[in-house]
Amino acid sequence: MNEEQRKASGQVSSSDKKSEKDYSKYFEAVYIPPSLKDAKKRGKEEVEYNQFQIDEQFQGLGNGRKFYIRTYGCQMNEHDTEVMAGIFMALGYEPTNSTEDANVILLNTCAIRENAENKVFGELGHLKALKREKPDLILGVCGCMSQEESVVNRILKKHPFVDLIFGTHNIHRLPELLSECYLSKEMVIEVWSKEGDVIENLPRARQGKIKGWVNIMYGCDKFCTYCIVPYTRGKERSRRPDEIIPEVRRLAAEGYKEITLLGQNVNAYGKDFEDMEYGLGHLMDELRKIDIPRIRFTTSHPRDFDDHLIEVLAKGGNLLDHIHLPVQSGSSSVLKLMARKYDRERYLDLVRKIKEAMPNASLTTDIIVGFPNETDEQFEETLSLYREVEFDAAYTFIYSPREGTPAAKMKDNVPMRVKKERLQRLNALVNEISAKKMKEYEGQTVEVLVEGESKNNPEILAGYTSKSKLVNFKAPKEAIGNIVKVKITQAKTWSLDGEMVGEAIEVN
Ligand code: 5AD
Ligand code: SF4
Repeated sequence: MNEEQRKASGQVSSSDKKSEKDYSKYFEAVYIPPSLKDAKKRGKEEVEYNQFQIDEQFQGLGNGRKFYIRTYGCQMNEHDTEVMAGIFMALGYEPTNSTEDANVILLNTCAIRENAENKVFGELGHLKALKREKPDLILGVCGCMSQEESVVNRILKKHPFVDLIFGTHNIHRLPELLSECYLSKEMVIEVWSKEGDVIENLPRARQGKIKGWVNIMYGCDKFCTYCIVPYTRGKERSRRPDEIIPEVRRLAAEGYKEITLLGQNVNAYGKDFEDMEYGLGHLMDELRKIDIPRIRFTTSHPRDFDDHLIEVLAKGGNLLDHIHLPVQSGSSSVLKLMARKYDRERYLDLVRKIKEAMPNASLTTDIIVGFPNETDEQFEETLSLYREVEFDAAYTFIYSPREGTPAAKMKDNVPMRVKKERLQRLNALVNEISAKKMKEYEGQTVEVLVEGESKNNPEILAGYTSKSKLVNFKAPKEAIGNIVKVKITQAKTWSLDGEMVGEAIEVN
């Protein structure tokens, strides 16, 4: 798609140059910012599936140059970083772990809460000095924050030393964008407000050889009223099973032991296929036949979690018995204001069904406290739901207003002090139940996929059980990359200590 076509189709794009001196004139005349309003529009046009290819003119662009990517936020960003690293390496760049050594630095950003954004602006402040020392350094901002017009405006005004801004739909354009940076040495901006197509054949520089991400869909159409993701990641687009299944087979053949299927709302997988009835259950049913020991998926939305998927997951085998099922609140009234499209009863029904089909499954969740006008009673309902389900763990957050979302316009009578107290009370309950559940493991033997040395002690190895419990234990280094049996000697609130027993379990 060229620039004209892109504009005609409503994909806002600008890869123009910025004059530092008369920025405001330039801004009005040429620069078209990303627009959250445009991003909200869900087009009817069919998703196009395209193959990525590096144009000959960009081959060797990175020879003799090094790149560094700092990743903020969720697994989707980690996945995108692996793709960008793959593109860099295909262009001839070498990876480096040091910002001082890098010729290109990218900040792959997260917009989910205000504190995530503050970290990035703080980092830009630090990198300013480096940029002054090394004027040839290319400093880029990408990821979810780039999709927000307020962020792009702030970078233009306060951080004009940034060389490149590109959005989540523009990752495959990295070769063109880098080349433009070298030619112009002025700020290059390209943020398509509306999603692009599904691009296949993207190179990947995967981190590690034990666990791998496999993206199965992009975007989210749920529009929970607090959430920025549907605006920054675009509409739901599923990858075709005939791309995903061979990718998992390849990873299995390369010796990967665990894959995680990724998407913002994986339960909506396949809903956009017009030529077939095919959902996450169908995909999992095919993937479970592949000779790879562990398959996970994240993140689920309770609304789309269907019976067929439960039936398939109950078959077990390499489909793991851990389900992350964000509830967000235990109060039906708050859930309504959040536009979650289920209520407390329906969520509890779903949990009941899952537990019936998979009695040993572990459940984890996400919870937001202090949503606008949340009352004490409503917060108590969250605590009681948590007790009733007995989640294994939870990610808990204080509500953070995101510009452009419906909730950000709601008046809010809950003081920050109260929100913080609620978070503390919730976290105390989360810890209490986690500790209780962990205690049950003492004396039991679990299977652990060994990922490497423990962060704090190289004498100790660390890995995760199928239910995502962190286990630290003494074992020979050869165990790394294998699934081993570990007898649990001591439970802590968030991890288990143990000793390896017997040989590594033969996998593959
Ligand atoms: N404020 C606080 N937490 C949020 N989340 C998403 N948006 C917000 C927000 N505006 C949380 C939800 C989601 C998780 C990834 O982040 O709990 O499940
Ligand atoms: Fe955000 Fe809701 Fe979509 Fe999850 S399902 S990404 S919380 S809008």
